[in-house]
Amino acid sequence: MIRKAVIPAAGLGTRFLPATKAIPKEMLPVVDKPALQYVVEEAVATGLEDILVVLGRNKSAISNHFDSVPELESNLFTKSDDAKLAHVKKASELADLHFVRQGSPRGLGHAVSRAEAHVGREPFAVLLGGDLIGERETLLRRMIDVAENHAASVVALLEVDPEQIHLYGCASVEMTDQADVVRITGLVEKPASGAAPSNFAVIGRYVLRPEVFDVLRGTTPGKGGEIQLTDALERMASDPAEFGGVYGVIFRGQRYDTGDKLDHLKAIVEIASERPDLGPELLPWLSDFVSGRGLAARGSTPTPQSSMSVSR
Ligand code: G1P
Repeated sequence: MIRKAVIPAAGLGTRFLPATKAIPKEMLPVVDKPALQYVVEEAVATGLEDILVVLGRNKSAISNHFDSVPELESNLFTKSDDAKLAHVKKASELADLHFVRQGSPRGLGHAVSRAEAHVGREPFAVLLGGDLIGERETLLRRMIDVAENHAASVVALLEVDPEQIHLYGCASVEMTDQADVVRITGLVEKPASGAAPSNFAVIGRYVLRPEVFDVLRGTTPGKGGEIQLTDALERMASDPAEFGGVYGVIFRGQRYDTGDKLDHLKAIVEIASERPDLGPELLPWLSDFVSGRGLAARGSTPTPQSSMSVSR
């Protein structure tokens, strides 16, 4: 039974500077909630209510968000603003949240190893705090089922454009008799263009056996001088008899990296479009905006004239 989730949220967020100078990238709002809250909600929706967040610098913004704020709550209560009160309370009542500091930022593998004392000797899920998976998706549930069936570790895989694979961990795979499940035969972190064994990218959801902690202890710094989770998983994939092997679940749904500016914008548009309080006004505006400016046809920048009409 997998009960615990670990959310590393200690990246430096350099792609989003200066917004991430004083707040972690996982706290950037996607519509009106920090990206991290969507990830916590996904873990809870999957039945994982014991959640450990691995914190980096600017830790207080994250832990404060999931704390109750009595003065704000009593202010909203006095004004009978029930809707806002419910939103504020939700973050602090979501799950059994725990926090640990990463200390020095020595890579994703190092961040995961910081969870050992909390997780103990049981399998657990890892959700990267900046990766958003569409609300309707059941990726993590499927990964847990595969992990339990094979007594193995499981990564989530997304087929990406070969030109993008150098941004991800990349997997060599063998098909299984299930269309969405592969056996991982090798993993390499951010391969150079042209050297990637496939276009299967590892995305930010993992289900790991506790042996990963033993392997991480012996994992030396890899790509970028960091201790890479991908390198530990490569070791586990290469010795299934000892570590139970590694499988991949192929994901074909929507995933956004909220630490990437373009993906962040796309996530906001998709989530807002689907919300009953925003979608009905946003969608006709968006359609006007795109067709009015001819952006769809030209894929170019707007003219100054149309930009003025939008800003009104
Ligand atoms: C991390 C992992 C990488 C994975 C990616 C998914 O990289 O190291 O293997 O493909 O997350 O988002 P990062 O994006 O933190 O550099």
